[in-house]
This record gives sequence, C-alpha cells and structure tokens, in this order.
Amino acid sequence: MASAARTFTRAMRTPVTSSMKRTATFVPQTTFRQQARRGFADSAKPNGGSNTAVIGGVVALLAGVGAYYGFGQYERATADKIARGDGIFTPKQEDYQKVYDAIAKALVEKDDYDDGSYGPVLLRLGWHASGTYDAATGTGGSNGATMRFPPEGDHGANAGLQAARDFLEPIKEQFPWISYSDLWTLAACCAIQEMQGPKIPWRPGRQDRDVSYCTPDGRLPDASKEQKHLRAIFGRMGFNDQEIVALSGAHALGRCHTDRSGFEGPWTFSPTTLTNDYYKLLMEEKWAYRKWDGPKQFQDVATKSLMMLPTDMVLIKDKVFKQYVEKYAKDNDAFFADFQKVLVRLFELGVPFTTSEDSRMTFKSPE
Ligand code: HEM
Repeated sequence: MASAARTFTRAMRTPVTSSMKRTATFVPQTTFRQQARRGFADSAKPNGGSNTAVIGGVVALLAGVGAYYGFGQYERATADKIARGDGIFTPKQEDYQKVYDAIAKALVEKDDYDDGSYGPVLLRLGWHASGTYDAATGTGGSNGATMRFPPEGDHGANAGLQAARDFLEPIKEQFPWISYSDLWTLAACCAIQEMQGPKIPWRPGRQDRDVSYCTPDGRLPDASKEQKHLRAIFGRMGFNDQEIVALSGAHALGRCHTDRSGFEGPWTFSPTTLTNDYYKLLMEEKWAYRKWDGPKQFQDVATKSLMMLPTDMVLIKDKVFKQYVEKYAKDNDAFFADFQKVLVRLFELGVPFTTSEDSRMTFKSPE
C-alpha cells in the first residue's frame, strides 16, 4: 500500500479577512485599454460570458451607483479613478493580488462542490485553455479565452468546464479590467497554491479574442490512448517526456465524472490537496481493469475506490516515462519544482507578452 493515506481529505484554508495586506512590487505593462480591446459586441455570444467586458460596460459598472455602493473601498477607488478620467487604469501587482484574494475567498466559501472545492476544476480550465497550443502555427493557447464560445466550449474534452467558468464570473464582474484569459490562468495558479501546491509565477498580458480564434476539436489528449498519442499531443505544444510526466501529477487532484468524460472516480485519497501521491499510488498499488459498463479504466485492487485512466497507466508502462514517475514518487520537492516550471510554461504558451520573464509575480495566500 502506498504511503498515501487511505481516507479522503479536504483542503482547508482560513477565510480571507479585511486585514489582508497588499504587495506592490511590480507594475505590468498591460493596460485596461489593451485588455478591453475586444469585447463580445463583435462576436458570437459566449457561453457563460458576461457583457461587462466591453469598456463602456466596465465604466458604467464601476462608476455606477450600484458599483459605488455595492463594492468595497478598493473597487470604489478604482471606479472613481476611471470616472475622473485619470487616464488609463494600469493594474499593478496589488490589483492582481486582490483578484487572487477574491478567488481564494470564493474557493473557501463555495465548498458545496465535488470533494468540497472548485480548485481541481479551475486548474482543469486553465489547462484546457492553454493545452490547445500548436507550436507549428502559433495558434491556440491561453491567450483569447476562446472556450467561452460554443464551438470550443462544446468540444467533448471541455465537458464540465462551464462550472469553472461560472465560478469565475462574479470575480470577472468585480474586476472587469482583467481579461478572461488572464483570469482563467490566474485562477488556476491560485487553485494550485490554495490546494497546498507550489506557487506558480504568473504574469498578465493575455487578451480576449473573438469566436474566429476558436481552435479545432482534437487538440487536447484522449484518455483512452497510449504513449504515441501523448507524445504527439504534448510534443505539438513543445513538451518533452519529463514534462509530460510532471504535468500529469495534476491528477493527484479532482476526479472523473461519468456525465463529463464518461470515466469515474478520483486518482488519490486527497483530491483537493496537491501531493506526489499520484506517482506513489501508480508505483505502489496494484491496478486492474475495472469491471463495469463504462469506458476502459483502471481500479486499485486494494480498495476499489481509486482510478487511473489508460493514459495514466502508460506512464508506468513506458520505460522512459516510468523513470520520472519513480523520481517524483520518491521526492515531492522534485515534483513540486518541476511542476512549477512546467505550469509556468503551459500557461504562457502562445501569449504575446510585452513584458519580460522577470516581471512574473507570485501571490500571498490569504492568512
Ligand atoms: C496527460 C493527458 C491528460 C488526459 C488524457 C487527461 C484526461 C482527464 C480526464 C478524462 C479527466 C476527467 C474529466 C471529468 O470527467 O470531469 C481529467 C480531469 C482532470 N485533469 Fe486531466 N488529463 C490529462 C492531463 C492533465 C494535465 C496536464 C492537467 C493539469 C496540469 C490535468 C488536470 C486535471 C484535473 C485537475 C482534473 C480534475 C477535474 C475535476 O475534478 O473536475 N490533466 N483529466
């Protein structure tokens, strides 16, 4: 039996308080005007999106009576600044920290979901937004947030991600200056950190795009396939074998749903806390095909309560992949270090940043 505990656990954090401090060390180049450049007015209606992304709506919302009285001191100050016409609102690190805090607070408050946290599905949203990248054509990736639109939002691989987009909609309304594409990746970083994972350095600069930028179906991995498929899909994004294995450690979190992918169950006993248990369980448990009517998946022989996808099992079938599984199973620090590096890359694929890598920020967790 793996040392991973055999009881399900939930990640817990203290709720955010008004005494949270701001950290102001970096002024990003991304401006309010850049981020609001394309609204929904010139495109198909997004699924789950809001009309507040257009600049007129933003100013009306922020400067309006409802916003003035409905928001806190910070939002009122921002609304006043925009209403006075003080020029372009340029968000600073302290502004992004506010967004981070709001997401972290919502993660604590909205705990009536799956295993008690939206964290895993937020991470999946950030990954599926980014994992459409094609290095050869420079298309896809997190820039654009094109999953808001039906062609991409309806792709089979994205089933269930509406829950994550809906979770973030009130945050987008509270901070209308942030693009959906920045918000989704920031939320994924926040989810990882709040689920006890490493801090993922992040920088803004993604701009929302219209429906014409939706990527074709088939760019995300198919869980029923083997190593050739994994190498083709992740190779297309520019990732090597070690990075494929490090990325897959995200399956320590969350679960499969029969009404989404058709698969069922969690990979670990602590699906809302990031650990290297995914690798430990792969190495140490006995896995057998689950006997059921659903798609081919694996089940742990000892408790029959955990699952592995065919693509997860490939990581111990393939000798090259297996070396990295062994390494991460033995060394959580090595996993966290490599997971951090590869997630930074994943969330930045295809983004035309005007800032340098030095401008990446990390965020404080609410106390
Ligand atoms: C290696 C190829 C991958 C395949 C074939 C794959 C496949 C899947 C499938 C089938 C599900 C279940 C969806 C559902 O029924 O709700 C899932 C969930 C999930 N995946 Fe992956 N995935 C892969 C890689 C990744 C990567 C790279 C990440 C993040 C870095 C990731 C993060 C997650 C998370 C957090 C969940 C849980 C979502 C939830 O609880 O709602 N996956 N994945």
